[in-house]
Amino acid sequence: MKISEKVQSAINNQLSNELYSSYLYLSMSAHFESANFKGFAKWMRNQAQEELMHAMKLYDYLVRRSGRVQLKAIEAPKNSWASPVQVFEEAYEHEMKVSQMINDLVQLALTEKDYATENALQWFVNEQVEEEDTANDIVSKLRLIGDDKSNLLLLDRELGMRSSAE
Ligand code: FEO
Repeated sequence: MKISEKVQSAINNQLSNELYSSYLYLSMSAHFESANFKGFAKWMRNQAQEELMHAMKLYDYLVRRSGRVQLKAIEAPKNSWASPVQVFEEAYEHEMKVSQMINDLVQLALTEKDYATENALQWFVNEQVEEEDTANDIVSKLRLIGDDKSNLLLLDRELGMRSSAE
């Protein structure tokens, strides 16, 4: 079954959204580098890589379905934040938005009776549960830590140990 124009266009949009996510997390990483939170910077840099992998999954899926990849302009992300907790709060909010985008895409695939796409998107549905949970967990920790500098540095160190394969 040939992929419909509607589904193809929506996947291309999501491909750009994933690239924007990568750009946003790279910007957060750069912000942390400049604030000397090396562990948070590394975590965000790995996250940026992961988002690039999400974009490439959609890219490869379109290619496999004989669709056409169409890359779009990517908006410049914000580049400075007031505190580590604000950065992670925004990352969490961003992931919730992405989950909604994925849900809308699943709904479109179902409406178009494109069950192959619906099936491929289940990977993203599961991934979003993880992404939201991880970001929310870090936000909770940062809120608990508050202004306690030594615990903030401990968390920075802990997040810096995240492996790039996660
Ligand atoms: Fe690709 Fe963080 O969603």
